[in-house]
Amino acid sequence: MKIGTDFSGIGSPESALKRLGLDIDEVFACEINKFARASFNELHNPTTMYEDITTRDHSEVPQLDLYVAGFPCQSFSLAGKRGGFEDTRGTLFFNVAEFIKENQPKCFVLENVKGLLSHDNGRTYQTITDVLTNGGGTLNGQIGLDSIDNGLGYHVYAKVLNSKDYGIPQNRERIFLVGFKEFREFRFPKKMELELRLKDLLEKEVDEKYYLSDKMIKSFTNHKERHEEKGTGFKWQPKTGDDIANCLRANAALCPTDNTVIVSHSLFPRTSKTGKGGSGHLSKTDGTSYCVDTGCSQGVEVIQLNPPKESGGKQPFQQNRVYDSNGVAPCLDTESGRRNIQVSEIVRLEDLKLIVSNRTNETPLEVNQFLKDNKKGTINDIAKALGLPKTKVEHYFRIDKSRAIPCVDDWFKLKTHLGFSDKYDKQVTEITKDISTFESSSRLYSSEGISPTLQTSEQGYYKTNKRIRRLTPLECWRLQGYTDEQFNKAQKVNSDTQLYKQAGNSITVDVMVELFKKIYDI
Ligand SMILES: C[S@@+](CC[C@H](N)C(=O)[O-])C[C@H]1O[C@@H](n2cnc3c(N)ncnc32)[C@H](O)[C@@H]1O
Repeated sequence: MKIGTDFSGIGSPESALKRLGLDIDEVFACEINKFARASFNELHNPTTMYEDITTRDHSEVPQLDLYVAGFPCQSFSLAGKRGGFEDTRGTLFFNVAEFIKENQPKCFVLENVKGLLSHDNGRTYQTITDVLTNGGGTLNGQIGLDSIDNGLGYHVYAKVLNSKDYGIPQNRERIFLVGFKEFREFRFPKKMELELRLKDLLEKEVDEKYYLSDKMIKSFTNHKERHEEKGTGFKWQPKTGDDIANCLRANAALCPTDNTVIVSHSLFPRTSKTGKGGSGHLSKTDGTSYCVDTGCSQGVEVIQLNPPKESGGKQPFQQNRVYDSNGVAPCLDTESGRRNIQVSEIVRLEDLKLIVSNRTNETPLEVNQFLKDNKKGTINDIAKALGLPKTKVEHYFRIDKSRAIPCVDDWFKLKTHLGFSDKYDKQVTEITKDISTFESSSRLYSSEGISPTLQTSEQGYYKTNKRIRRLTPLECWRLQGYTDEQFNKAQKVNSDTQLYKQAGNSITVDVMVELFKKIYDI
């Protein structure tokens, strides 16, 4: 089958035909953008690659079985004109029509944005269909009025298809014009039930650069609120994995609010950037986490759980420790210095409720004195035997402001290892769970109001264990039906910016597949 494509981009028709196992003889592709050409060449290796449809000598192309052109929708106004073939001169549709006239392909598929239908109050679409069908052709099986003289006489079927109806979780509506030189009946493919959701196409691990920074989230949210007030209709609403993606756009790289997704982030265990496993974590001692994770490179800085009582509610001596509500036990700890917590759904501080574990009883200084008195061996030996970080164990045996009370598990491990009595079991291991909320001062108080348990230097928004990120270029390619293998080839020759653009410009391969099945009775 001889095929030729204009505005070839990354070759959705070629990909679809190959997927269907059809034997294609690609006579030519044509693409003006050098980056798209580079991807196309990696993926399809065409015999002839033209660079510009407007300068091609159409007569040198043999008659095609199939011609595909997803021509860019240019804003052309026919106002005051008759709406004939010549009136489209200066538009890329004019070049498409000229090619069809010269080449007389057996079949063509033209694709465009849905907005083509309403452009210039429908006159643009009317002119395009007149040009294609007048002179003996039909539109959707109907013989029209031959309102222009030099129409191409094709039998054209037109319909808006949405990618989400053909197996791909993307809300992408495009108009397809399928034309036949000889009259035949044609029906567009039936809608299919969508089985995939965005989460099925998401990468598991993505580079940190795709996550939105706190600053960005705040500015998008403010932006959204301003627009809500003004009623402009702008809505920034990150998707969840169960949603379907918005229509990918060619300028996605420039528009960071496009296709953002809320993803869960594994909190535990996680290796910090420095490679020190577990550091930078905030997890509850029972393993269920506080849903806040420090140590990622974005987010709100400085969280501080429970300054010890003896600090009078002020920042404790050691900035990098997180204390439980009794003010003494670092059942949570963080790495060092400035803290970031995880980015996620946007939650107002006032709305955020966290379950906080508090010790039911006082945990006096004596607990640490008791541990110190019962210490056998070096800190190093104990840490090794217990499988705990040395720095953590060290604090259990201190009796100054930086002392820490072991979390429940560690306490029992210590007991077994050092063989001491049950004397302080109650003080250390009896835990009550309370619901805590942020107050406007951005402090989190335990429900008993004992002590500020969590504080952030940021006002206004806080985050849970979810993070917001942009779709990656690979995910965008998947959302257009390309294989990972195809993406990998293109990635070798193109930047993220170009890869986003190419996905946004493409026709969804799966839609093409379904269309070709109907055209070729497969
Ligand atoms: C909407 S995209 C079509 C993408 C293509 N259908 C695909 O599957 O990837 C339009 C493409 O036309 C290209 N283009 C624009 N003007 C052109 C011209 N004069 N000649 C050839 N290609 C052109 C653009 O660079 C862009 O890649």
